[in-house]
Amino acid sequence: MRGNGGRMPSGAAAMPRHLLSMADLDAGAIRTILDTATQMQDVQRREVKKIPTLRGRTIINLFFEDSTRTRSSFEIAGKWMSADTINITGKGSSASKGESLRDTVRTIDAMGVDALVIRHGASGAAHQVAGWVDAHVINAGDGTHEHPTQALLDAYTMEQRLGSLEGKHVAIVGDLTHSRVVRSNLISLRRLGADVTLVAPPTLMPSGIGAWSAAEGFTLSHDLDAVLGGKGSGEAARPVDALMMLRVQKERMSGGFFPTAREYTVGYGLTRDRLNRLCDANPEIVICHPGPMNRGLEISADAADAAQSLVLDQVSAGVAVRMSVLYHLLAGEESPTESGATSEGSAA
Ligand code: NCD
Repeated sequence: MRGNGGRMPSGAAAMPRHLLSMADLDAGAIRTILDTATQMQDVQRREVKKIPTLRGRTIINLFFEDSTRTRSSFEIAGKWMSADTINITGKGSSASKGESLRDTVRTIDAMGVDALVIRHGASGAAHQVAGWVDAHVINAGDGTHEHPTQALLDAYTMEQRLGSLEGKHVAIVGDLTHSRVVRSNLISLRRLGADVTLVAPPTLMPSGIGAWSAAEGFTLSHDLDAVLGGKGSGEAARPVDALMMLRVQKERMSGGFFPTAREYTVGYGLTRDRLNRLCDANPEIVICHPGPMNRGLEISADAADAAQSLVLDQVSAGVAVRMSVLYHLLAGEESPTESGATSEGSAA
């Protein structure tokens, strides 16, 4: 807890009304959310995981795409902070009867809910919803666009192991074209001072990424072994501190983006051989993957389960980081872990 009794310090970073993109958070706001997440992780480690911070608030998780960790961690985060959380999936809602997204979210909003956590297959859906409702809107993944809470939990997890990300070299490898995770991570990692190299086959590099990399100052490569071996030019010549493997998003692929799965793995998978070489060169390297993993395609079982793998730490951090985001958007200036009551475990 902070020395001022857990109150947010005056002059704390301003939070946006909605979290739609990582671009909504400046470096100060990212720092504030990550710092509060460490307090939330203390709650996560308690035997009684219940604080009264969001008592009386209602959070709707509205998921039009499948999810295991994002949806359940938002639900757990809300429940541990004593909010009422309700899950609605696209298949089980009136959307399956042809109701428009606008009518669906305005219907839910009319009930007086405080926050709408939305995942949708259309890029930009969360932005549109924010224009239609009074509730706070949190983007839990919109098409191939953004997934800001994933980027926050990734930064949190890497910082826990590496310390400050300022000047650290993070390589993100895989299906960049279809990944909302990489778009949000690029913004947050650059704002936290990390150097980023993106690695993908030419067919999985989004169009326009060259101009974007020049504007944002990250490096592009098609050669994973050169990046991991510290060969190449620019940032790619530097040893990698953190390696983030992205899922090959088969469900978003309409055509052939690579000849065969085997060829993808040979060129861009974190195979056992690559893992061994990496760990020999730098035993401190950390490996991340947002999940769900395609074991044997972009990441080998050896790498997924290696001591260097932070995959389950990412899942665990997801709850604490989402608690922090919900707190900062909904509760504002009150104490993160004590507002509305006097001590831990005192809530219903
Ligand atoms: C990601 C997503 O859904 O965008 N997963 C997640 O939220 N943990 C990445 C993915 O599906 O590959």
